[in-house]
Amino acid sequence: MHTATPQVTQPPWWRDAVCYQIYVRSFADANGDGIGDLEGIRSRLPYLARLGVDAVWLTPFYTSPQHDHGYDVADFRNVDVRFGNLDDFDALLTEAHVLGIRVIVDIVPNHTSSEHPWFQEAVAAKPGSRARERYIFLDGSGRGGRKPPNNWLSHFGGPAWTQLEDGQWYLHLFDRSQPDVNWRNKEVRDEYESVLRFWLDRGVDGFRIDVAHSLYKEQGLPDARRRGGLVAPYHDQPEVHSVYRRWHQILEEYDGDRMAIAEAWVADEEAMARYIRPDELQQTFNFHWLLAPWSAASFRKVITDTLRAVGAVEASPTWVLSNHDVVREVTRYGDGEAGVARSRAATLTMLALPGSSYIYQGAELGLPQAEVPEEHRQDPAWLRGGGVGRDGCRVPIPWAGTKPPYGFGADGTTPWLPQPSSWRNLTVEAQDNDASSTLNFFRRALAARRTLVGQLDRQVRLPRTPPGVLVIEREPGLTCVLNCGKRAVSLSRLTAAGESASRGLGDLLISSGDDSAVTAGTVPPDTAAWFRRTAGHHGS
Ligand code: NOJ
Repeated sequence: MHTATPQVTQPPWWRDAVCYQIYVRSFADANGDGIGDLEGIRSRLPYLARLGVDAVWLTPFYTSPQHDHGYDVADFRNVDVRFGNLDDFDALLTEAHVLGIRVIVDIVPNHTSSEHPWFQEAVAAKPGSRARERYIFLDGSGRGGRKPPNNWLSHFGGPAWTQLEDGQWYLHLFDRSQPDVNWRNKEVRDEYESVLRFWLDRGVDGFRIDVAHSLYKEQGLPDARRRGGLVAPYHDQPEVHSVYRRWHQILEEYDGDRMAIAEAWVADEEAMARYIRPDELQQTFNFHWLLAPWSAASFRKVITDTLRAVGAVEASPTWVLSNHDVVREVTRYGDGEAGVARSRAATLTMLALPGSSYIYQGAELGLPQAEVPEEHRQDPAWLRGGGVGRDGCRVPIPWAGTKPPYGFGADGTTPWLPQPSSWRNLTVEAQDNDASSTLNFFRRALAARRTLVGQLDRQVRLPRTPPGVLVIEREPGLTCVLNCGKRAVSLSRLTAAGESASRGLGDLLISSGDDSAVTAGTVPPDTAAWFRRTAGHHGS
């Protein structure tokens, strides 16, 4: 007799994946030019496999004049010579897959480089031409059109418009070398679909979508009402969602749960969740986690608001503490020992939550924001007067040795940004054999998480706790305790408050700091710990 086998649907690979962000210029330099490259990444894949990540996201490595370090793309279908070539990319992708690591690449749909053939053609063409229709060209305002068409400002400082010799102005929300394309133009929409397919056909597992919330500008390009704020006519316009519905369909045409994650800096969790409705993208960065100050109450609020918002659209959350655009978390949380301890604790806390976590290269080494001397800074945001810039979180990774380039490249290479001398204690080599190092903490945390993924319910309980403390409970039997307070908290106080009252917290699985203090019954300040209650555990 034929019995039907019940269909077991595997969750998509990305749902609870830990994804490691590689800022390509700064990860590993194989060819000695002081700039990281694809071959450098390939040579370090075993390191990433041992770290225990499920996926990597590579920042743009496409042909580019590098005015915004790759986010100014001149050819979306090729590799910049500084980073290698398409064969190097294929080799990297194949080897990553052999090691069980998925690969996400960046797509930059808001703008091209001013060296992109389309923009070159547009500059050479006349006002009103088809070539100019692919971008956002307008006549100026004021007498003789000498003023920009509206009051929009570049995110990097200064006006968002640059005037050409023939008098027309073009829009660039970022550097003048990054003209915004016109998403109301079909050629633009078709081109990006074709670029998606180019990389999907090569076998990538997904995309990180740059400036995903800004592709559409409000019709008529009205003045911004609150400058620099989130309420701007180029933020989060409703039409942008039509793009992601279409991209959803394209991803669906391919096997293997291909995915895309939006970089959408939007006002709140509700706006964020609109990008991950069932027929849109799979993920969107949850920047509210990264923006939360070091406080149990703030973390708690982000968790509650995030889970409510993504639950309403039946999506899964993401968590992220840093990336190549923000100050590293060690420094945000106060630098020094406290900064490192808090970063480790915040990491362990996010890893206890359902959904996917994104880790920025160097976080696993506890790197602080580096002081980059002004004469070495290269960020266009700094060069355009838009603040100190982001170079401090982009300094090349220290791998080994006691002086720069710390194994980032061969001895004698000069990294594109200078590495601080204090980093000699933070190299992978220095941390490798030290059980208490941040690197080994990350390895243990990712390994512990692997043993839990798939076993835990997606529901999260946040019981009442003493001030300064956050407790996360997931069934069956995982409790994460985070102490943001100034004094140690005793575990007996927590069990009295939480669901686990009658059953105890269970065994210590891992802590972000001093295990012996936790086994003695307290969670010290700036520390998180995971406890596991197994069946039959009846508390202490
Ligand atoms: C966001 C990227 O993360 C950032 O590095 C870049 O400067 C802007 N988008 C412009 O592409």
